[in-house]
Amino acid sequence: MNRKRIGQWILIVSLLFAMVLVAGCQSSGDQPASSSQVSESTDKNNSSTSDSGEGTEDSDSGETQGLDPLVIAQQEWEISAHASSFVADSEGHNNACARCHSPKNWTPTLEDIPESCQACKFELPTPPVFIQESDWLHISCIMCHQVDKKGVVQSEVEWLEIPVLEEYASIESHSELCLKCHNTENVPEHGLVVVDSGHADMQCTECHSPHDTTTTCMNGDCHSDVLSDTDQILGHDNDHKDVSCAACHDNAGWDVGPDPETGIWTTFSPWSHEVMIGEADSILQSGTIPFSSHDIGLEVNCERCHYSGNPWELTENVEIP
Ligand code: HEC
Ligand code: HEC
Ligand code: HEC
Ligand code: HEC
Ligand code: HEC
Ligand code: HEC
Repeated sequence: MNRKRIGQWILIVSLLFAMVLVAGCQSSGDQPASSSQVSESTDKNNSSTSDSGEGTEDSDSGETQGLDPLVIAQQEWEISAHASSFVADSEGHNNACARCHSPKNWTPTLEDIPESCQACKFELPTPPVFIQESDWLHISCIMCHQVDKKGVVQSEVEWLEIPVLEEYASIESHSELCLKCHNTENVPEHGLVVVDSGHADMQCTECHSPHDTTTTCMNGDCHSDVLSDTDQILGHDNDHKDVSCAACHDNAGWDVGPDPETGIWTTFSPWSHEVMIGEADSILQSGTIPFSSHDIGLEVNCERCHYSGNPWELTENVEIP
């Protein structure tokens, strides 16, 4: 996961660089966003044609690219986890996974259809057990935005409630939209997002970009002074450079420890049961998976890690002024 993130950052940086270059050369190419066109095709090398059957056509908007919010959204999305969401379970099944990982590919059963639509008279095909990776549409623009007849993605945010009927539902908040899929309470091997304590009133999109989905605690106006030269707080120091903010500031009492994959200290989502990730010898002893807690508070207990007999051989008694 960390490798993926480093990759994402490299891509973001190079994209920004490319955008600066393009902006420099084409500053006369400004046009209103709505006149430009972005394909929802999942083919990463091809942003103006589509084989996904959504009626996308070519247009002559090429020279407006670079500053167009649609193009920026497209570029950000392409490097996100939402654009590479193909999965299959150990038996090689993935129609059930597609419900969240590629809802446009998902073939629901009648019980899966919202009650409001139970009375609809339409035939549902028998769900396939496996959808080919080449057919997978990922979490594309159409899940969160309507697309007009010309294939232009509208900037209003909506939710494609019933993909088979192309029926959209309005949403009250951005968090409601994200939680359509990030409510993984009953999905084993998945982490759980519960935004609480210090950030309880915040929307997902106040921290995460909806398109590249990345964030840090120090972005924008948030906590940019933390870890600076003027920051004298115990724990905000070089000793803890491999400890994530959430590992110290988690308020939910989740287990903490180093992520077996990255070595960075993090929290472990308590929801999953015995899970196996990768090889059989990497079964996680605690029965939980590394996942950033979103229940973040001010109070930090040094003894959470520095207790006597701790398994990591950290100093047992640390100075607490
Ligand atoms: C209820 C929605 C939902 C369903 C159903 C679902 N997933 Fe997920 N999946 C997610 C979300 C949201 C994430 C993002 C990270 C997280 O919450 O753990 C994710 C992440 C993952 C990841 C980790 C990807 C990464 O890069 O870290 C894997 C692997 C995965 N899912 C496999 C599956 C498989 C296999 C199935 C079907 C058996 C499935 N998921 C069904 C919502 C779902
Ligand atoms: C998971 C849901 C989701 C997906 C997928 C998604 N968007 Fe968005 N999009 C949003 C949200 C939420 C906002 C509102 C952001 C805000 O107001 O802070 C938004 C805003 C926008 C805007 C308005 C300008 C801006 O950037 O704020 C444009 C244009 C846009 N999206 C285009 C796209 C395109 C093109 C794609 C596909 C490449 C896409 N979006 C995919 C959720 C999504
Ligand atoms: C259609 C379902 C869906 C919606 C809606 C959705 N997500 Fe996701 N999201 C996923 C899945 C599935 C993954 C995991 C993809 C993978 O790696 O296989 C994911 C991955 C992520 C990740 C990366 C997790 C990681 O392990 O690095 C973040 C962050 C994220 N989403 C945030 C958001 C935000 C913020 C919103 C709302 C603007 C949102 N998502 C809306 C399904 C969704
Ligand atoms: C080793 C544990 C530890 C880590 C890691 C840590 N903190 Fe803290 N943090 C503390 C302690 C202890 C306090 C003081 C709490 C108090 O005032 O009771 C604190 C206080 C804070 C405060 C409130 C004081 C202020 O400066 O405004 C903020 C905000 C904060 N931390 C943000 C962060 C962020 C962001 C990160 C990640 C970059 C982080 N912390 C990482 C231990 C930690
Ligand atoms: C106060 C800011 C904040 C809010 C609000 C927030 N997040 Fe996050 N989220 C973070 C930070 C910081 C990380 C860790 C990022 C990293 O390590 O790269 C994170 C990580 C994640 C991850 C990846 C977790 C992992 O360890 O793999 C997912 C998925 C996610 N957030 C989804 C959401 C969703 C969905 C919402 C809204 C319900 C949300 N977030 C609200 C700050 C926030
Ligand atoms: C989430 C776990 C965690 C919490 C909470 C935590 N630490 Fe640490 N601490 C660590 C880790 C990991 C190291 C690095 C150990 C190493 O590099 O070998 C460390 C190192 C230290 C060291 C250097 C000595 C040593 O053992 O390597 C001191 C001193 C220290 N911590 C003090 C504190 C204080 C004071 C607090 C409370 C404000 C605190 N720690 C909270 C995990 C934590």
